[in-house]
Amino acid sequence: MLLEVKDIHVAYGDIEAVCGVSFSLEKDELVSIIGANGAGKTSILNSIMGIFPPRKGSIIFKGRDITAMPAHQRARIGIRIVPERSRLFPRLTVYENLLTGVYGLRKKIPVDKRISWLYGMFPILKERRGQLANTLSGGEQQQLSIARALISDPELLLVDEVSMGLMPKLVEQVFGILKQLNEEHGLTILLVEQNAFASLNISTRGYVLETGTCALSGSAAELMDNPRVQEVYLGH
Ligand SMILES: Nc1ncnc2c1ncn2[C@@H]1O[C@H](COP(=O)(O)OP(=O)(O)O)[C@@H](O)[C@H]1O
Ligand SMILES: [Mg+2]
Repeated sequence: MLLEVKDIHVAYGDIEAVCGVSFSLEKDELVSIIGANGAGKTSILNSIMGIFPPRKGSIIFKGRDITAMPAHQRARIGIRIVPERSRLFPRLTVYENLLTGVYGLRKKIPVDKRISWLYGMFPILKERRGQLANTLSGGEQQQLSIARALISDPELLLVDEVSMGLMPKLVEQVFGILKQLNEEHGLTILLVEQNAFASLNISTRGYVLETGTCALSGSAAELMDNPRVQEVYLGH
């Protein structure tokens, strides 16, 4: 197992955001956690990344308990996040934003080689490499945010609502890239999304999160066929 999340609880003061969630990911899997706004998706990703650690429970990465490990160290051992709303440096160029993805990592990264690989994967970023990040469209910003996370060649990519605010056509494009990264490059991906259809469509398995607890889990096909999922998330 690449990642095991065991009975995590996340709270902000008296507000319990995640109440005992458990799930796991095998290497090479692409798994979705779907849930409405406020369900606890970001809280789960932030506790895996170490940005806001869980109050209770444990997180095991490659057999090692990392529950108390600081975020920068988790980045060094191969976990990266594409944060909600991309969080780019607006006044830095596309190229400079990519470089910030290697800042603080101890391992030697062949930066030029990685950047040309990323430019192959995201041709629009190559075209716009000298442009300030705040002049990019929403879809381009999300691509840059994904590329910045990938520059260090992570083993596990956490993706927080990358579809937010994008037109359906762009959602399809960005999700197509994630699927390709998983299938052709063996990248293990955990997606959290409100857009249940688009994310289950590229996933093998999924979990449904409702107010901080895991309400359902199953293969992507099973979840898409589930009447409750259809009613709440797929608009049937
Ligand atoms: N920093 C915070 N302080 C207080 N409450 C928070 C904070 N972050 C999230 N919450 C609350 O925790 C719950 C889960 O939030 P979040 O993990 O962001 O859900 P999602 O990503 O699924 O929208 C919500 O009720 C939200 O209001
Ligand atoms: Mg969120």
